[in-house]
Amino acid sequence: MSKSLDELFDRILRSKIFKNRELLRPDYIPDELPHRENQILSLAKILAPALQGERPSNVFLYGLTGTGKTAVTRHVLKAIKERRRPDLNLTTIYINCRHDDTNYRVLARLCEEINVNVPFTGLATAEVFRRFREGAEKLQGIIIVVLDEIDALVKKSGDDVLYKLTRIHTELKKTKICIIGITNDLKFTDYLSARVRSTLGEEELVFPPYTAPELEDILKMRARDAFKPRVLEEGVIKLCAALAAKEHGDARRALDLLRIAGEIAEREGMDKVTINHVKKAHREIERDRVVEVLKTLPLHSKVVVLSIYLLNKAGKTKATTGEVYGMYRSLCNRLRLDELTQRRVSDLINELDMLGIINAKVISKGRYGRTKIVKLSISEKSLREGLLEDEFLSRALG
Ligand SMILES: Nc1ncnc2c1ncn2[C@@H]1O[C@H](COP(=O)(O)OP(=O)(O)OP(=O)(O)O)[C@@H](O)[C@H]1O
Ligand SMILES: [Mg+2]
Repeated sequence: MSKSLDELFDRILRSKIFKNRELLRPDYIPDELPHRENQILSLAKILAPALQGERPSNVFLYGLTGTGKTAVTRHVLKAIKERRRPDLNLTTIYINCRHDDTNYRVLARLCEEINVNVPFTGLATAEVFRRFREGAEKLQGIIIVVLDEIDALVKKSGDDVLYKLTRIHTELKKTKICIIGITNDLKFTDYLSARVRSTLGEEELVFPPYTAPELEDILKMRARDAFKPRVLEEGVIKLCAALAAKEHGDARRALDLLRIAGEIAEREGMDKVTINHVKKAHREIERDRVVEVLKTLPLHSKVVVLSIYLLNKAGKTKATTGEVYGMYRSLCNRLRLDELTQRRVSDLINELDMLGIINAKVISKGRYGRTKIVKLSISEKSLREGLLEDEFLSRALG
């Protein structure tokens, strides 16, 4: 191994900062979940009948991202499995619908978990469902199915399978099934038909955002074993908690800030994590977020961003919507795109404003009425990173 790599690995292995950085990873489930005692108790109460061979009610869990829904669910399922009677056939199945986002894939995963054979593709969904029902009946027990990020499934494939699953217990004699649905999309219920809403939501649990002091407790608990003693400078945890609470009380964001701040300190060869490292981590996360948002924008929104950028670059740091539209049209022309109407572009500008990519402000032009001026609110570096992958656009960027 080259000497420099050797030294690098040595340094990382001998971290002055971390005792166990794994504890800060997003998928690590801690034994204790402060400030979720109510949700844990409620979910445990709802699921407890499973321990006596009864069917628990279906449950619907919702709350914004990073509010502990997945962590709480896994925590309670684990506890239930530990307490199950040996004579009771209790199966728990966890499916993340963002990964398995079609009816077929969800059903195939369910079959797989109870050892029923189905091919990767090729059968009719109804046939896979039938095989699952048959296999489930043979188990003669209780099955708890968690469908996490369930909105991804419904948006892509509708709620047919969900309807069937939430009703399947009426068709089974020897096995009982309960469904736990989880979402962070608070508008999700709009996508559900009333019949699914009522069968899935036999019980509902809400996960409110964490407050800054709550996030502090969570971070302190996780930091205790993740960092070496006395590595965190005074105020570091408080700042991570405050920044994450400002967004919407997202524990994942708070943990990311703390972990990345630690990694930056380590990269710099320091033996303390300072406020400054947290600020740097914040900028890093924010930049990544912006780049991700840019990459996933629809093509015409990207062209609008590009138009504003080109105007800014040409000295127009505050362009009017009319000027943006002019530039947008000439870009469309160059890229051979069919242009949208000015009104539609105006809508796109509003959307970009809400996403924090640009800043749009209405100003009065005296007796000439009012107009909107827009400017870019992201760095050129992020913009290039977010748009340059698009070969089409990178030519226009030059
Ligand atoms: N009360 C808590 N105590 C300790 N860690 C927590 C707590 N709540 C959440 N976390 C941690 O924060 C991160 C995000 O939590 P979790 O994955 O449960 O969020 P979620 O509500 O499922 O979010 P999403 O809707 O984005 O899936 C995880 O690393 C989790 O371990
Ligand atoms: Mg989750």
